[in-house]
Amino acid sequence: KAMRLADYQQPDFLIPELSLEFELDDHQTQVIATSKIVRQGDHDRPLVLHGEKLELTEVQINGQAVQPQGSDTDLTFASVPDEFTLRIVTRIDPANNTSLEGLYKSGQAFCTQCEAEGFRKITYFLDRPDVMARYQVKITADKARYPYLLSNGNKVDAGELPDGRHWVRWDDPFFKPSYLFALVAGDFDLLEDEFITQSGRKVALQIFVDKGNLHRAGHAMRSLKKAMAWDEQKYGLEYDLDIYMIVAVDFFNMGAMENKGLNLFNSKFVLADAAAATDEDYFNIESVIAHEYFHNWTGNRVTCRDWFQLSLKEGLTVFRDQQFSADMADPAIVRIKQVKVMREHQFAEDAGPMSHPIRPAEVMEMNNFYSVTVYDKGAEVIRMLHTLLGEQGFRRGMDLYISRHDGQAVTCDDFVQAMQDANNVNLELFKRWYSQSGTPVLSVKEQYDQQSGQFTVALHQHTPPTADQPHKQALHLPIALEVLGTHGSKSQVLSLTKESQTFPLGQFETKPQLAVLAGFSAPVKLDFKQDEQGLLNTVLYAQDPFLRWDASQQLISEALHRAAEQGQTVLSDNLQGLFEGVLEFAPEQRALAAEMLELPSFETLAQQRQRIDVDALLNARNALKRLLADRFHPQWQALSASSSQSYIYEADQVQKRRLRAVCLGYLAHRQDQSTLLQSAYTTSDNMTDTLAVLKACQQADHPLFSGLMQDFESRWQADSLVMDKWFALHGSHQHKDSLAKLQLLTSHAMYSINNPNKVRALIGSFAFYNTAGFHALDGGGYRFVTDYLLKLDAVNPQVASRLITPMLGFAHLDDRRQDLLTQQLARLLDNKSLSRDLFEKVSKALKLS
Ligand code: ARG
Ligand code: ZN
Repeated sequence: KAMRLADYQQPDFLIPELSLEFELDDHQTQVIATSKIVRQGDHDRPLVLHGEKLELTEVQINGQAVQPQGSDTDLTFASVPDEFTLRIVTRIDPANNTSLEGLYKSGQAFCTQCEAEGFRKITYFLDRPDVMARYQVKITADKARYPYLLSNGNKVDAGELPDGRHWVRWDDPFFKPSYLFALVAGDFDLLEDEFITQSGRKVALQIFVDKGNLHRAGHAMRSLKKAMAWDEQKYGLEYDLDIYMIVAVDFFNMGAMENKGLNLFNSKFVLADAAAATDEDYFNIESVIAHEYFHNWTGNRVTCRDWFQLSLKEGLTVFRDQQFSADMADPAIVRIKQVKVMREHQFAEDAGPMSHPIRPAEVMEMNNFYSVTVYDKGAEVIRMLHTLLGEQGFRRGMDLYISRHDGQAVTCDDFVQAMQDANNVNLELFKRWYSQSGTPVLSVKEQYDQQSGQFTVALHQHTPPTADQPHKQALHLPIALEVLGTHGSKSQVLSLTKESQTFPLGQFETKPQLAVLAGFSAPVKLDFKQDEQGLLNTVLYAQDPFLRWDASQQLISEALHRAAEQGQTVLSDNLQGLFEGVLEFAPEQRALAAEMLELPSFETLAQQRQRIDVDALLNARNALKRLLADRFHPQWQALSASSSQSYIYEADQVQKRRLRAVCLGYLAHRQDQSTLLQSAYTTSDNMTDTLAVLKACQQADHPLFSGLMQDFESRWQADSLVMDKWFALHGSHQHKDSLAKLQLLTSHAMYSINNPNKVRALIGSFAFYNTAGFHALDGGGYRFVTDYLLKLDAVNPQVASRLITPMLGFAHLDDRRQDLLTQQLARLLDNKSLSRDLFEKVSKALKLS
């Protein structure tokens, strides 16, 4: 039952106005929806409203009771007037809504999540983004338990009832699709501030957090104000309502949600203080707060016509939040982080059964397409446009896109068209990025003519077939490169538009050094055979920090693959030279050095080969780590000396802590460092340093690990967000008893299968990052995750469907593991009540659809 982009049809009816009245109750919430409905075009088709898990109690058209035809998924009115008022009364059960989609309870509070198709769990409606209405919302609830009653737009009225209940009325002046509707009712601590827009309007800013967490909301508020100022300055985009609210909740399927004027956030992307949050948390909060804020223009004011166009708002908004992060922090480090996501996760998705273009052509369950491909590859596609058009050209395109489509629900083609029209360029070929899936392989051959001194490069692109598409075409690739000659380096961007093209790069007295894909200018895999000396030169002398990092990682990766194949790990002269070189500039260029000194992740290594030997690769990685720990141990020690500054989230300190963490990671591989590690743990006054010690000990399986973990638990057992870090450390601990431990922890007092953060922390870390445990040859890891998925799917299919990801990417595993995984996937398929979410993925993995 898949939906296809090609089958899109305009809605038969529009709903310009909607009034919603909520009588909140844990199990019997009543929703009265009164809407104005207008037939669109000349037809006599029935009106079919979406609706799921609703108890219908009353329906009237223009004040007259009617009897529509109901099913599990919709409500059909055989014949209706051209224009009429529809009143529908339904009941829902928020307290038993464990899917966390629609109206549900997070702790004591009521809240909603409607994107993509959750509004239909609140009332019967045309739950599609091209149906946009003006919303009026009245919420009634017990005043003592729910002092705050929130919805989109402006608060226009409020009152009290004699029985201890109260009500509030909200009015949102902007037309919006149902997925942007939100409601929150609860008791919170409130952090307030204000922002004056560039045109001088005053906006009230409010962040609602659980009682007792007020001191953890400051960073989120500062981030919001930075994001608002940045969007004005960078894109001329100003906020449009008088109030902007953010509510942090503990039960949330994703990161956050950009509901108009009322963002809902997973509390992990709001709350931070030095004691409980890491530098990474601070970074993520700033970036997610910005992301949701930026959606106000790229998503809300200009929205998607249909869900196949999701990347229209997500790819663009991720790109914008990436630009923002680069402006707020170290741009090279921010870029490296993004490239890791692409290589570890997006390349894996492209190589697996769920491969899809950034604009999918076919969808069974929309929630399955909130993917790294739609989001992160989507952002890479926007970035390539930015590279091709330049900063100013891109801005011209953005201006035209916004002014042309403000208030509309549009398509990815509309976006590219605006970029094209504003810049007078032809982007027809570029559009292929929207419909073609897969990771292109870019082959590079350099040629130097001794006689003439001419240096040329031959580029060739090839995209291997993917599960969803057997045949691929050439794409438009911007290839940024650097030529390092004896007189410095030269950068340029080549535009590859054919399968093969040769480009002259100039005249040189001696053969220069070529470095390709500066800034990761296109989301491709690079096939460029370079000798180790060349890579070392790039590490030391290239301009672009990304190229320097990438060359270091290539050197290490090749060494690791070689070691895995030969079953023997050695520290070659070149590898030693690399670490010596990097350690030399480490005290000045801390952040970049830290990235270079860290070995490529197992996941990244796995994507570099058609077939991998899991055990051999893991062994090689560990062996190299130990060799480096010994060989450079004075340097690790010197660089890991702690500073006595008290914690601030600020670039210089972040870089120091990051480098220190990498050094501790090596030191933990030596048995003589217990005192140093113990004291690093004891003297730490912040979560970043504390977690660095725990992680180092966990990865090296150091004897200190279990004692420190016990201490950590006794200290933080009452703090839910911090305990997630503890669960994650246990989940990803590669240890012979890890399965038994995992089993035990699922009954820990702080664990709950109903809370997505817990599931991701414990079971997610196991499946994604406990390589040895998950891929154990007795099949125990696969079986455990499958058993858990069977339980979880009945509770929360969306979370189950994310958790299954590591079970899908088995194409490069050995036959035995492929067999084991296939057996477990078959077990899932045997479950007759499997969710649509899991069914789509499992059936594709088993090649049944
Ligand atoms: N639009 C949200 C964001 O990217 C994500 C919401 C996704 N929700 C879902 N159920 N798939 O900020
Ligand atoms: Zn988003």
